Amino acid sequence: MEFYSIKGGNPLCGEVDIAGAKNAALPILSAAIMTNETVLVENVPDVSDIRAILSAIESIGAIVTRVDRHTFRINGSRIVDGPVMDEAVRKIRGSYYLIGALLGKYRRAEVTLPKGCNIGLRPIDQHVKGFRALGADVRIEHGMIVAGAEDLIGSHIYLDVVSVGATINIMMAASLARGLTIIENAAKEPHVVDCANFLNSMGAQIKGAGTDVIRIRGVEKLHGTEYSIIPDQIEAGTYMFAAAATRGDVTIHNVIPKHLESLTAKLEEIGCQVEISDDAVRVTANKRLINTHVKTLPYPGFPTDMQPQITVILGLANGTSIVTESIFESRFKYVDELTRMGAQIKVEGNTAIVTGVPYYTGANITAPDLRAGAGLVIAALAADGWSEIHDVVYIERGYEDFPEKLRSLGADIRVLDTDDPDAERKARMSLAV
Ligand code: UD1
Repeated sequence: MEFYSIKGGNPLCGEVDIAGAKNAALPILSAAIMTNETVLVENVPDVSDIRAILSAIESIGAIVTRVDRHTFRINGSRIVDGPVMDEAVRKIRGSYYLIGALLGKYRRAEVTLPKGCNIGLRPIDQHVKGFRALGADVRIEHGMIVAGAEDLIGSHIYLDVVSVGATINIMMAASLARGLTIIENAAKEPHVVDCANFLNSMGAQIKGAGTDVIRIRGVEKLHGTEYSIIPDQIEAGTYMFAAAATRGDVTIHNVIPKHLESLTAKLEEIGCQVEISDDAVRVTANKRLINTHVKTLPYPGFPTDMQPQITVILGLANGTSIVTESIFESRFKYVDELTRMGAQIKVEGNTAIVTGVPYYTGANITAPDLRAGAGLVIAALAADGWSEIHDVVYIERGYEDFPEKLRSLGADIRVLDTDDPDAERKARMSLAV
């Protein structure tokens, strides 16, 4: 099993390029099979969640051709009407997008229930409510979600919670329904907009994506397209926060600064400098940061996927901060690991009370999930001494070339294998010597 060995203390400095957004790529690659024509998708991140969704669409007969590392040609004309049981799909939350895609195109979908990151209860009742409103019969049987409809008819759907997944899934199915669907209380995340833009480029008629009311006029069929995925705002945010935590100076390229506004505002509030240009942000920090309060909210609020990373920074800031998690109920599991590095954090329900300490000390820790894993890497980069981070498979689900990119910014990080008998010695060998 691979792990990261990190010697903390180097300020991150330099430039880094951001990959395409994983959470936009998952629905877009799923939606690509909704036409029988060929679709070209560019700026696809090379991360394990994406390899899993590509494997799943291939398993049901889609032809997937890799043009280059980040570009794929997909043809869904030979899809067979069978269940999606690919082993890889069980592991990723985003596999639920195949339900909306297949239900829209074939009026039938049978997909293994998704798992994804272990960050709390993750129901799919709003997805199911939406599909039922469109006229589908939806059942959960033998660990599969089975949806079928004689016909899909547009409907007026009010989501009880703001859900990215449900919004996109309903939008996909409704694109090929008869008549008008209106989704109220829709999610406004950039990847909802990106997926709507992609579907529109295939001939769908979706209006209002990015607001809380989305109107979808169903069309008879979708056609081929060429599309480039937006940059990953969470990957960008992670490097912004890594720069802040290590008191570095990092310019992050290939970003849409508008998508980063809630992060930029928090960084400025706690004492960082953020310079914004057309498609880059530069974050510098040269002194101890100061405390603040953060509450995660749906976009354009502070993203839950950046909550561990900001908690790590606030753990080193001067003063006491309060972090409130309002999206997922079990998203503070990493705090125990951070405490082993010297953090002083008390979790009460969905709130963390963070008393800043002057420094963390390196420790042997385990990533409990994708974003918490990234947060712990930031802690290790800022810490005094050596850390080992285990279960990095979680991190690799969503960060392309994470160790390599960090190393290019001056981090002392290496990837080792627990099966390597020499791993312990190598883990204590600084790259600098
Ligand atoms: C997506 C992202 C994830 C991010 C999250 C919130 C993907 C693959 N994952 O997850 O990284 O953290 O958005 O920005 O894109 N809920 C229900 N019923 C439902 C659906 C959701 O109650 O049917 C609740 C969830 O439990 C949660 C909240 O709604 O409390 C938001 O979840 P949702 O936006 O759906 O998250 P995901 O799409 O699963």
